[in-house]
Amino acid sequence: MARTIIVSNRLPTKVRRTDEGLAFAPSEGGLATGLGAVYQQGDNLWVGWPGTFLADEAEQNQVIEQLANDHMRPVFLTEDEIRDYYEGFSNETLWPTFHYFPQYAVYQPQLWAAYQAVNRKFCQAVLDVAGPDDTIWVHDYQLLLLPQLLREALPQSTIGFFLHIPFPSYELMRVLPWNRQLLHGMLGADLLGFHTYGYMRHFLSSVNRLLGHSNQNGMVEVGQRTVLVDSFPMGIDYDKYATTAASGEARRLEQEYRQAIGEDVHVVLSIDRLDYTKGIAERLRAFELLLQTSPELLGKVTLLMLVVPSRDQVEQYKQLKEEIDELVGRINGDYRTINWTPIQYFYRSFPPEELAALYRLADVALITPMRDGMNLVAKEFVASKTEGRGVLILSERAGAARELSDALVINPTDTEEVARTLHRALHMPPSEQQQYLASMQAVVRRYDVHNWVEVFMNRLAYIKIKQQVMA
Ligand code: UDP
Ligand code: G6P
Repeated sequence: MARTIIVSNRLPTKVRRTDEGLAFAPSEGGLATGLGAVYQQGDNLWVGWPGTFLADEAEQNQVIEQLANDHMRPVFLTEDEIRDYYEGFSNETLWPTFHYFPQYAVYQPQLWAAYQAVNRKFCQAVLDVAGPDDTIWVHDYQLLLLPQLLREALPQSTIGFFLHIPFPSYELMRVLPWNRQLLHGMLGADLLGFHTYGYMRHFLSSVNRLLGHSNQNGMVEVGQRTVLVDSFPMGIDYDKYATTAASGEARRLEQEYRQAIGEDVHVVLSIDRLDYTKGIAERLRAFELLLQTSPELLGKVTLLMLVVPSRDQVEQYKQLKEEIDELVGRINGDYRTINWTPIQYFYRSFPPEELAALYRLADVALITPMRDGMNLVAKEFVASKTEGRGVLILSERAGAARELSDALVINPTDTEEVARTLHRALHMPPSEQQQYLASMQAVVRRYDVHNWVEVFMNRLAYIKIKQQVMA
């Protein structure tokens, strides 16, 4: 039977080594949480890395067996591959470049070599399981070369590709050595998807300027093949978030948190992986400005800041961690009182029911990335607000801002604007909150992750038929 094989660097389950042996836990990050809802259908399979170095064959076999029950097939990476392909080329070359932080990008042939080798390794892992009728759906920037490698091995196969991060303007791409190879690698797919129209346009412009391929309505002729390029804003599993948030357990936890924080204290919530693209330090400065300029809010507002550890072996992430620790310490030191802590900062990940309770609890969600492919946290907050109260403040540079235009949309570098908007959000009348939320909920509910998969798969089927007609 034909299946869909999802391929991404990170599997939705990660393995950790503990004193009691190997432990399995859900992965963080939008790709894993978003697609988690769909890959277990039918005979579908997810191929990817379980997130830990496992040298021991017995351990590897244990992981293979355990993951097989959940439709997953692990690709094991060596320590060198983790350093050079994952931390290196993926997260020190591509990630900063694609998020408009070229000053953080390193360009090293050794990392590029590792990136190519690991993309080939993933190709082999897919070939080990893929049949001729299977649809292969490759995800994200760690595997940009994989579509073309698969195309060479299986010329007739159906291959989709989706990029979960921004695609930058040509001006950023032109700086990147190996840019042509990367674009060529992506064009091995039949359908290429991006979160927004803007990212899609940037991609087409780079393809045109660097490879000389023009497009017609998103169709690019690559040799004898027509490749379709389109935008598909990713959604969330709306019903799951709304149901979890409305559950007895989420209500109970919310009450518990509320009592601990104080009945009359406004809660501002932020949730992100520790990443310089998320604007965490800038957000802290805006919150500090709010405290400076609104003395009536002292003792009356708390920023609950959840920061999930991420890529902590990469130098820029280590530095950011120090900067955040220092800022939080300083602001709390300046403002806290015996019975009020301005910033409650957590550096760890949270289970879904606690996240749901925090979404319920928050009066305001403050989401201020400098750049973000989509930002699913914004959508999860909206879906969790089943009581119709809460204000979303959202960076104009998150992909989600295109759909969530009824959020209070801000420029995250404009500290004064963010502080002013926070003040406005904390004073917004309930009727206005309800009105904005209702319109955003309608959008997030309608374009949920199931709809996203369906639309993507329909477009993929369409381009395959079109290719046959044109052949
Ligand atoms: N998340 C999680 N555990 C946590 C905090 C967050 O699994 O403790 C999830 C969150 O619910 C969301 C994802 O991590 O689904 C973050 O996705 P987003 O698109 O906002 O950002 P990304 O991390 O992909 O850049
Ligand atoms: C973003 C990327 C994903 C990645 C996730 C977590 O969502 O688009 O590809 O999996 O961050 O990052 P990590 O490096 O831990 O996989």
